[in-house]
Amino acid sequence: MRKGLFALAAVGLLATGSMAACGDDNGDSGSGGDSGSSTGKVGVILPDTKSSARWATADLKYLTDAFKAAGVQADIQNAQGDKTQFQTIADGMISSGVKVLIIVNLDSGTGKAVLDKAKAAGIATIDYDRLTLNGGADYYVSFDNVKVGELQGQGLVDCLKAKNYTKPVVAELNGSPTDNNATLFAQGYDSVLNPLYADGTLVKGPNQSVPDWDNAQGGTIFEQMLTQKKDIKGVLAANDGLGNAVISVLKKNKLNGQVPVTGQDATVQGLQNILAGDQCMTVYKAIKQEADAASELAIAIAKGQKPTTATGKVTDPESKKDVASVLLTPQAITKENVKDVIADGFVTKAEVCTAEFAKACTDAGIS
Ligand code: BGC
Repeated sequence: MRKGLFALAAVGLLATGSMAACGDDNGDSGSGGDSGSSTGKVGVILPDTKSSARWATADLKYLTDAFKAAGVQADIQNAQGDKTQFQTIADGMISSGVKVLIIVNLDSGTGKAVLDKAKAAGIATIDYDRLTLNGGADYYVSFDNVKVGELQGQGLVDCLKAKNYTKPVVAELNGSPTDNNATLFAQGYDSVLNPLYADGTLVKGPNQSVPDWDNAQGGTIFEQMLTQKKDIKGVLAANDGLGNAVISVLKKNKLNGQVPVTGQDATVQGLQNILAGDQCMTVYKAIKQEADAASELAIAIAKGQKPTTATGKVTDPESKKDVASVLLTPQAITKENVKDVIADGFVTKAEVCTAEFAKACTDAGIS
């Protein structure tokens, strides 16, 4: 992956007609303000580059494109999974005078601390993808994350049915316990799986959360699950990275392809695992739509307008307050419709259909 390319994580874009950038990644040179134009600057903090490929590729790219197209200066940085760095980046953006701050929190506690500081400085705040519990952001842009989980649960059930297993044991590998999305995904897939555990169609196996969505730790956890319960026949893995960690363990045990595994994010690796028959499904979330929705709000605010597009609302389960929201619709992807993700431009045929997957691509109608 793009691990070492930290430079990529810090992107400063110039507003048309505004002053030249000060060349300071953290934007804390003290110059502050609006660079002489009336349009304000936007700060974006992405979480990491390891828990999912999306942050370093899709989100960075689509957000960068959207602000560039609008001629709005944006400082987009990645906290690399480090909560202290997250705060430092936020402090830099706040003191550089951003008008809007968009964050993907690493957990609600540190996310809230940043949102509080921003608010105290009169900066508008947007929770991007993950709701900061009790954070009080002005806006929230994400997907219907319970729906994501429902698609995963139903996808797994369909794949298990196709295998004709009787009373298969299902293991669940959940996302980070500090990510509200992981809670919502689990709520979604458990709403599908729990009734089937209850009526004996499926057997409830081990169930564990993976701290920080750490893929390597996910592999270790699953290896322990499989040692303890050798007859696991299906795995609800909360995203493609965790799914791939599970598939690696299954491969070692010569069980890949026999044990359906779910995922999320429609990563190149996830799509290839689906084409290979090792992964049952993934969930495609059109990140371009999400980045466009968030940047649309931020651009309006940066231009001093009142945004009109956050027409939905989500109730923060902790503060019980409503947050004005945009919630987008996720799509289930199996071998049959991997081509949809390519047709949408999210990944390219060249990335997915490498020599190893050329035949599988043709078979899946990817031309
Ligand atoms: C996002 C997923 C992502 C996961 C790990 C979640 O909050 O919604 O798309 O796979 O975090 O980064």
